[in-house]
Amino acid sequence: MIRLDKFLCDRQEGSRSQVKELIRKGRVCVNGLVEKKPESKIDENAQVTVDGRLIGGESLVYYMLNKPAGVVSATRDNFDKTVLDLLQDAPGKNLSPVGRLDKDTEGLMLITNDGELAHRLLSPKKHVEKTYYVKTKRPVEKESLEKLKAGVDIGEEKLTLPAKAEYVPEEGESAIYLTITEGKFHQVKRMLQAVGNEVIYLKRISMGELKLDETLEKGCYRPLTKEERKALGI
Ligand code: URA
Repeated sequence: MIRLDKFLCDRQEGSRSQVKELIRKGRVCVNGLVEKKPESKIDENAQVTVDGRLIGGESLVYYMLNKPAGVVSATRDNFDKTVLDLLQDAPGKNLSPVGRLDKDTEGLMLITNDGELAHRLLSPKKHVEKTYYVKTKRPVEKESLEKLKAGVDIGEEKLTLPAKAEYVPEEGESAIYLTITEGKFHQVKRMLQAVGNEVIYLKRISMGELKLDETLEKGCYRPLTKEERKALGI
């Protein structure tokens, strides 16, 4: 618990005497109710407003993680290390990964507490493109590439939506870039299976306008840059 006047001073709402004045004038609400006593004790997580403006609300943070294999993309796990374990020192509350990657998949993960952005990137209706670097057990013939593009049967009600698929230059037919706009469970692995192949290495390299920073070491994270935030519309 903390005194209301101290709470406001700590959040740069004015000097002690200025915030006392604001409170006495009835301009401050705590959890929706006017509070006129500067000395009243409030919970650190209380919702405090001055003239209707929320003070000290949770600040939104955005990190790019280069997920290594062997780490699960859940927020908690009893056995495995999680992606959030890799961001233990990162400032910000209630962080969550945006979407899931399999334990053995590497690459781009966006970690944030901005639920609205997460929804925007994950909503099936938005068809946000996710591009994967896919290494396969056997060569992907031209015919399979065309099938992946058109849509394949992965045991769902419908074929997969049209995708982009192209060979990774200089890797012959053993690696492709696959861009999908859905996020079905194990989708890329199942798509390759549907054309009689098998994924032996998978790495996400982009999600919407966000591209994996290849200079970010596996297991490392950094805040999104201004340009990256702008590209995501945040
Ligand atoms: N598709 C998969 O099969 N696995 C992932 O981790 C992501 C997409």
